[in-house]
Amino acid sequence: MQRRTPVIIDTDPGVDDILAILLALASPELEVKAIIITFGNTDVDAAYLNILKLLKTLARQFESDSCSSERFPSLSPHTKIILAKGTHGPLEGDLHSAQYFHGRDGLGDMDKRHPDLNVDSMDPEVYPNLLLTDKPGVEVALDIITSEAPRSLSYIALGPLTTFAQLVRQHGDVVKSRLGQVVCMGGNLDVPGNTSAVAEFNFFADPFAVKELLTPSLPAEGFPLDRFILLPLDVTTPHEIPFPYYKAHIDPEFEGTAQPSDATKKAPLVHFTSAFLERTREVMLLFGKDAMELHDIVAVWCAVENPPPSDEDLAAATSTPVLREKWKTVRRRFQVERYGEITRGMLVVDRREDEGAYDPGANRAAVQAELQRNQFHSDGVMESNAVPAQVEVEAPPTAPEESSAEGVPVITSTPGPAMLLSLLTSRIWGINIA
Ligand SMILES: *[C@@H]1O[C@H](CO)[C@@H](O)[C@H](O)[C@H]1NC(C)=O
Repeated sequence: MQRRTPVIIDTDPGVDDILAILLALASPELEVKAIIITFGNTDVDAAYLNILKLLKTLARQFESDSCSSERFPSLSPHTKIILAKGTHGPLEGDLHSAQYFHGRDGLGDMDKRHPDLNVDSMDPEVYPNLLLTDKPGVEVALDIITSEAPRSLSYIALGPLTTFAQLVRQHGDVVKSRLGQVVCMGGNLDVPGNTSAVAEFNFFADPFAVKELLTPSLPAEGFPLDRFILLPLDVTTPHEIPFPYYKAHIDPEFEGTAQPSDATKKAPLVHFTSAFLERTREVMLLFGKDAMELHDIVAVWCAVENPPPSDEDLAAATSTPVLREKWKTVRRRFQVERYGEITRGMLVVDRREDEGAYDPGANRAAVQAELQRNQFHSDGVMESNAVPAQVEVEAPPTAPEESSAEGVPVITSTPGPAMLLSLLTSRIWGINIA
């Protein structure tokens, strides 16, 4: 088997984050070194408690069924995962959270519905696999990056990029020379947003960090993009776990209604996952979907299957990272909107050169000509309202656009939603679907 990839998970748990962390802990390809909590879906303190709740549940699970501990290689008796707090708010601008979706506690108000899962103790004995520290997340990450072999570590960013941006601000040289790669869930390019009409939550929550890392004014100030992998909503959204599937295979008692379900017959881990999925199902049904989208889980899966590139990979690669079969990337160029009244966090793609952007012509001049011909023969739409106002011919791109000239490697294809669903089911819950 390949060498296990050491990873740091930077996260704002969050319902999909918790499943993503479970997948990481249950993946023999990864060795989870630290979990760094950032603001995001909820506030840092609530998010921190969610990791304690998860680890307390897993300790209970292993007590009630010792075999199940074998499914979680990152939780062997001799290892401790460092749990630290990262940033509490964005580099600049207002603080936003997604409690409308994830609940006040970040886990679908599980703390009120299932108080038996709450934690009231910071006693290290309760969390045999955790090392709780007051050290700032940035310092914890730096220590791990310097102590692991050069270029061996994957940094998995599942929340706003703020903590990572601070790390690069404060220790850029070390991070750039020693970190293996960053795998990041965030943004949306050719599909609508999920927090606003145009923005995905993580990039909405701190567009300043996105700008600094991915499209800096001077390229040398960002992170080397040949070691950065972005998973935007475009590719993550089709991956989901349908709730009827969850009920059929994982928890027959699962309802997802206003009534908390009865925990007595369930294994501790199933009780825990059902407890936070109940309200998630209610919310998703309001959105018209009886499934949960697996955004962050796809990012962890990508890190599972794609260890950091070796020097040979980097030398051989023409422009995009070398990935396992069925994973594909393309380089995409964009700018990120930071101050927009209604477009904060939007990834702005310059489509003026994109031949597919205008129909029927290959370019704007051809569209104009076509419209003029049509109008001449009919009383149809006028050119002025058929297409947006005349585009000014602008000077060639200036510095900020050139800085992202190479573009950010963006995942466009995975081995597929069905593969992920069966992997998740067998690794987290130990259930193999034929
Ligand atoms: C939007 O996407 C992010 C991906 O990180 C996810 O955490 C969040 O739950 C999504 N929100 C909604 C409302 O789907």
